[in-house]
Amino acid sequence: MEGSTHGPASFMTQANALLRKNITFQKRNLKTNLGLVAFPFFLCLLIFLIQTLINNELDKASNKCGCACVDRNGDGTCEEVCGIEYSSLDQVGTCPIPHPPEWPALLQVPRPEYRAVRTDDSFASADLPNESCRRTGSCPATIMFTGGNQSLGESLTANFFSGGFSPNTSDVLNAFANIPLGSDTYTELTNFIEPALLSSHPMYNVQPECTPNSTFYVPITIGSTTFRQGARFCNNLIVSSFSHFLTAYDFINTNEKNFNVSIWYNSTYQNATANSALGLLRVPRSLNMLSNAYLQFFRGSAVKVLLEFVKEMPKPGTKVTLDFSSILGALFFTWVVLQLFPVILTSLVYEKQRNLRIMMKMHGLGDGPYWMISYAYFLVLSLVYMTCFVVFGSLIGLKFFTLNSYSIQIVFYFIYINLQIALAFLLATMFSNVKTATVVGQICVFSSGLLGAFLLQPFVQDTSFPRGWTVVMELFPGFSLYRGLYEFAQYSRIGSSMGYDGMKWKDLSDKTNGMREVLIIMFVEWLLVLPVAYYFDQVVSSGSGVRKSPLFFLQKFQKKHMQSFQRRLSFQRQGSKVFVQMEKPDVSQEREKVEQLLLESNTSHAVICDNLKKVYPGRDGNPEKLAVRGLSLALPRGECFGMLGPNGAGKTSFISMMTGLTMPTSGTAYVQGLDIRTNMDKIYTNMGVCPQHDLLWEVLTGREHLLFYGRLKNLKGAALTQSRLLQAVKDSLKSVNLFNGGVGDKQAGKYSGGMKRRLSVAISLIGDPKVVYMDEPSTGLDPASRNNLWTVLKRAKKGRAIILTTHSMEEAEFLCDRLGIFVDGGFQCIGNPNELKGRYGGSYVFTMTTDANQEEEVGKLVRRFSPNANRIYHISGTQKFELPKQEVRIADVFQAVEKAKSMLTIYAWGLADTTLEDVFIKVARTAQSFNTLS
Ligand SMILES: *[C@@H]1O[C@H](CO)[C@@H](O)[C@H](O)[C@H]1NC(C)=O
Ligand SMILES: *[C@@H]1O[C@H](CO)[C@@H](O)[C@H](O)[C@H]1NC(C)=O
Ligand SMILES: *[C@@H]1O[C@H](CO)[C@@H](O)[C@H](O)[C@H]1NC(C)=O
Ligand SMILES: *[C@@H]1O[C@H](CO)[C@@H](O)[C@H](O)[C@H]1NC(C)=O
Ligand SMILES: *[C@@H]1O[C@H](CO)[C@@H](O)[C@H](O)[C@H]1NC(C)=O
Repeated sequence: MEGSTHGPASFMTQANALLRKNITFQKRNLKTNLGLVAFPFFLCLLIFLIQTLINNELDKASNKCGCACVDRNGDGTCEEVCGIEYSSLDQVGTCPIPHPPEWPALLQVPRPEYRAVRTDDSFASADLPNESCRRTGSCPATIMFTGGNQSLGESLTANFFSGGFSPNTSDVLNAFANIPLGSDTYTELTNFIEPALLSSHPMYNVQPECTPNSTFYVPITIGSTTFRQGARFCNNLIVSSFSHFLTAYDFINTNEKNFNVSIWYNSTYQNATANSALGLLRVPRSLNMLSNAYLQFFRGSAVKVLLEFVKEMPKPGTKVTLDFSSILGALFFTWVVLQLFPVILTSLVYEKQRNLRIMMKMHGLGDGPYWMISYAYFLVLSLVYMTCFVVFGSLIGLKFFTLNSYSIQIVFYFIYINLQIALAFLLATMFSNVKTATVVGQICVFSSGLLGAFLLQPFVQDTSFPRGWTVVMELFPGFSLYRGLYEFAQYSRIGSSMGYDGMKWKDLSDKTNGMREVLIIMFVEWLLVLPVAYYFDQVVSSGSGVRKSPLFFLQKFQKKHMQSFQRRLSFQRQGSKVFVQMEKPDVSQEREKVEQLLLESNTSHAVICDNLKKVYPGRDGNPEKLAVRGLSLALPRGECFGMLGPNGAGKTSFISMMTGLTMPTSGTAYVQGLDIRTNMDKIYTNMGVCPQHDLLWEVLTGREHLLFYGRLKNLKGAALTQSRLLQAVKDSLKSVNLFNGGVGDKQAGKYSGGMKRRLSVAISLIGDPKVVYMDEPSTGLDPASRNNLWTVLKRAKKGRAIILTTHSMEEAEFLCDRLGIFVDGGFQCIGNPNELKGRYGGSYVFTMTTDANQEEEVGKLVRRFSPNANRIYHISGTQKFELPKQEVRIADVFQAVEKAKSMLTIYAWGLADTTLEDVFIKVARTAQSFNTLS
């Protein structure tokens, strides 16, 4: 354990130590880790099962194209044939349609209530009918035309309608090609069935003038059902030269040589709702009418281009399926990916809450290696997790993964997990409690998913919503994740229903694809969040050591900031004398010694505390508490200084300041010449701490703890190999009696309190620190281990300063070269144990037990050899006297007792020097009564 001389551990050594510790830690947490990795697996599996279930349900006969057994050759054997003709209306959707039906091309006619009337502001024309026609539903539809040549326009529009019409039921299509047939029904996405035929709205035979009504039926056969759709040819339509609505033609500069026309129509009739794709439009008919009119005008009425029918493209048979992963994917997978966030967050906060972070820092772990290794570690964890996620999903065959380009997925997830880790670091600075952090983390997970699905997604789908605002919303990292997954889901959903691939790199330039923005946003955020998180970690965070000033990074520029402490100290001298008047001579002597030492630049003293003060601000109406009031102390190397004091005297506050857990309110201390306010990082490399409460990782063994801290302390030397380190660890374990019976290989969480204590002591001593603080090191130890520990400490004293707080006087007396009794935040006395006993316990204690009725005589006897004796205790014959040392000779006492034995029945007697305990009680009592008085 004595160790070789070694400097502070290099960056790589520290990183290596932390990495090894983390790996061991993870090995112990194998179950949790497996659970974590299994989470995406189970979720993917769940989605897969649900999807299989739904698809099985959808695959039922009622959802499939109808089939029948048809005897084609008439030989009694039938073969199965599927198609529209064997299907019910529910089934036709999935049937193959190799020969789609042919429909007459209809003209889109506005509904009666939307037709132009005279009140329409901009077209106040006498040509238009009165508004009253809307009530009766008899408004004529109107066609508008404009252009450079009115007479030409009138002639052309008159040619639209060919007048005569005789319905020929045996050749419907040809008959309808000659007359413009109109409908005011909305159109649909496909035209396998013309919606006009199924609706209750009338079909119109569009004529320039009204003729009497005529009605006839067009028989339509779909599968086994025959519709007899009435085509009521209402002809109350007029063509006006001056209006709009049915269609508007702008003839512009049309003449014999030049056919240049714009057609305007009302596209509302394509029946587009927010979510569905646009429907078809009945435009071909108006185009055909126009071309015919133009041809007939210049070439004579015999010339015609007939538009016989319109029909859909043929289509293959389809299957009703639901790509569940694409529909719910965005929400579920947001949860899966975000699930890592609370894991990282709590793991960071755990080390802070249990003060392990500061403990590591106290043993020399710099912030750089801590950040680097923690970051790399979480990155690897996230990578493994995400890889499992994508691989499981792909293996199961979810379209979400298989259709989209893997390279985009990798880039997206990689950027996101980096951002997520940076965010966890940032958020971790704001928590010091694991439970709060877990709750907040989980809330983030679930709210991000739900808000994404119910707030962001509708905005994204609403094409009229300004894109800029969705980008602003995506600045929230949960939303950018959701958006990215949503885009994957969209592309895979459309891809799987259309039978082609999902998102590819070239799709990033699609106008509606938000992936590119999301990638940029996340990358930029990652670059921003990381330094901010580091900054907050240094400035705000509790639990990572002394907070730095908000402008700490500027200190590098303030040169020679902490070089010579003496110079600055000369200014600080003034205020300190005020206290001295009230102090005991030994305490003020120590103060003077400190001042003397500070003026010399003598660093032979390991620890110099200069008027150190700690004031806790008042809270909830309580006055502020002076925990440490102006403590001055100088400790040379090789000295063990014991701090005694009643509970709550401020010992732990003092240790906290010295170890950098809290900042002194005023005053400072120098450890090896380094100021604790500014140079704590360097001090840590030469410091050992055994805190009052054991700061250990529950799942690591004692040996692993020592290995970790040993590595942090650079305990391997240049030429020494690992075995030397192991030797040091072995020695440490042995020295605190943890070596036997494999105790060192047991997880610290299973240790008894005493074993934990011993491990803490071993940790504080590993790596040969120059200054060691021990806060009640032997609490909870059995007497044998305690003696053992003391021997270790006594040996460890060589070459280093130890500050020890304890409640055991025995311990103090055995270990400490000097003692200070610390009451109410200040030293009452300082000195070595014998000095103190001499000064405060200037008396012997004489005890004698006799019969109860002989008490008087004993009193007299004692007065004889000590006139100023003071009876401090008596009960049924047993009495205790305090004898001033200067008037008593021990020989006299013995003689007197020998003589008295003949007269009195003495059962027992004794003479004792004062113990340290007596001194302690006396000092503490006087100090406290003094303080209550003042
Ligand atoms: C209008 O068109 C007719 C037919 O083409 C033509 O005869 C007449 O000259 C044109 N009028 C003008 C003003 O161009
Ligand atoms: C109806 O159409 C059929 C087939 O084109 C034709 O043979 C028949 O003459 C037509 N009937 C009338 C009344 O035009
Ligand atoms: C057709 O009309 C437009 C104006 O609407 C004009 O810009 C264009 O040059 C015309 N085309 C021809 C071939 O005249
Ligand atoms: C288009 O049709 C809708 C009814 O579907 C009607 O509300 C709207 O006013 C029409 N627009 C024009 C310019 O005629
Ligand atoms: C659009 O079409 C569907 C059925 O095809 C119909 O139920 C709906 O009412 C139509 N929308 C409008 C605005 O008429």
